[in-house]
Amino acid sequence: MDEEIELAFTLNGKAVRRRVPVRLHAVDLLREVFGLSGPRVACEHGICGACTLRVDGQLARGCLLLAPQLEGTDVWTIEGLTATGEIADLQNEFHARNAMQCGWCTAGMLITAAEILDAPAPMDRQAIREHLSGNYCRCTGYQAIVDAVEATRQARAAGRSAA
Ligand code: FES
Ligand code: FES
Repeated sequence: MDEEIELAFTLNGKAVRRRVPVRLHAVDLLREVFGLSGPRVACEHGICGACTLRVDGQLARGCLLLAPQLEGTDVWTIEGLTATGEIADLQNEFHARNAMQCGWCTAGMLITAAEILDAPAPMDRQAIREHLSGNYCRCTGYQAIVDAVEATRQARAAGRSAA
């Protein structure tokens, strides 16, 4: 029987507390204990990005973190980012350009893309590609994904200069 720990952190803007096995992975905690289906499990060793989370403002692999490492952190999944509307424009571009097929990679891809959009210096297409290179997609060929991120970046920049 695994040892357990009392764990408290912020999840999608709300304080949460649970007793969890010390060896539980963060992605499994979010999926199985909190019922969030956005973080996906694919490679389970930090390669594919399907489990990408935002933890204390940084990208993190949910499959490489143990649940106890979330103690005191601020964790966001695609569910929370969707609810706040922070990436609604990006999600609309993904939808409009059919930048998803099976959708397994999409939540992680969107969270990584959100970081691109928040970068202090605008990224060109090549930089967007490189930044997304840690998120694998087996379906789309990436073109539509990069198009969606680039279009969102350009629309935000145009909005800022018009304001
Ligand atoms: S499942 Fe975590 S990086 Fe692939
Ligand atoms: S849409 Fe299927 S893996 Fe990306």
